[in-house]
Amino acid sequence: MFDSLPLCRLLGIKYPLILGGMAWVGKAALAAAVSNAGGLGTIGSGSMTIEVLRSEIDRCRALTAKPFAVNLLMLDPDAEAKAALLLELRVPVVVFGAGNPGVFVEAFRRREIVTMGVVSSENLALLLERAGVDVIIGEGCESGGHIGSVTTMVLIPALADLVRTPIVAAGGIADGRGIAAAFMLGAQGVQIGTRFIASVESDANDTYKQLILKAGVRDTIVTGEDLGHPVRVLKTPFSRKIKKMERQSADEVESLLLGSFRKAYQNGNLNEGSFLAGQSAGLVHDISTCQEIIEKMFAQAATLLEYTIPHINERRKHEQNGSI
Ligand SMILES: Cc1cc2nc3c(=O)[nH]c(=O)nc-3n(C[C@H](O)[C@H](O)[C@H](O)COP(=O)(O)O)c2cc1C
Repeated sequence: MFDSLPLCRLLGIKYPLILGGMAWVGKAALAAAVSNAGGLGTIGSGSMTIEVLRSEIDRCRALTAKPFAVNLLMLDPDAEAKAALLLELRVPVVVFGAGNPGVFVEAFRRREIVTMGVVSSENLALLLERAGVDVIIGEGCESGGHIGSVTTMVLIPALADLVRTPIVAAGGIADGRGIAAAFMLGAQGVQIGTRFIASVESDANDTYKQLILKAGVRDTIVTGEDLGHPVRVLKTPFSRKIKKMERQSADEVESLLLGSFRKAYQNGNLNEGSFLAGQSAGLVHDISTCQEIIEKMFAQAATLLEYTIPHINERRKHEQNGSI
């Protein structure tokens, strides 16, 4: 039903869903599971060395024959070397995070690699459009991880009015209602992160998964605002302490935050770990496989959308007539 949408055709996927690029979380097994379930799985390269990235890409290719993406953070000191690796390995899709990919885009285009860029502002969207990316992912501040300041509800229509490049909505989406809403706002698909941390295939520490299941919609907090790099994390004694300390002692806070995401992800360390998650943690109530998550979401979205998206109706008519 969704596979005839332009985004699905561009990416060669069944459902217009991209697994948000996530440092630590976005390993080959999770990316491949999302791709095998009909979405676009993404390897998060932010936490990987070049060698690890190479082997995760190889592993992903061994686990799925479907397209997948690699998230490349423009702030990564190894961004150039990683871009060279992605070109060499000809990954199907590259998603740029945290900045303007500029000249990188043309190099990927020449190799027929699809490019997408994540933005939380109109200015960056314009820069990405000028750079020639194929898709712009608008990420609202409900998201987990590094965030901007505008909500998904406002950012997506603003971007849809501003650029001609297809838009994908990210931030706060965890079920079919969010997907249906994203279409109404002007997006052609969704990018989802937090929901997939609590999946069978994610190798996040069990404490992390349980914190997401227990969280309500008010159980995240934004740390690092005073340091100039706001990050949405789950409320824990550690994140509350950081929040309180921020104004007084920036250096001390920086050193406490260093490596704190790894401590949360790998060890479930409640005293020293930053558990990155979006407000949608409050909408996540079970740990399921990626396939179960994606099929349930899109069945719900289809029910909600079938009266409003004409070509879905048309396709359904054909299906009922037996003409396709
Ligand atoms: C644990 C975590 C790590 C993330 N790491 C990255 C990253 O390395 N690069 C990136 O571009 N976005 C990163 N993000 C943002 C996601 O790719 C995605 O846009 C976001 O999670 C969507 O919002 P949601 O969490 O409400 O689903 C991260 C998000 C989370 C929750």
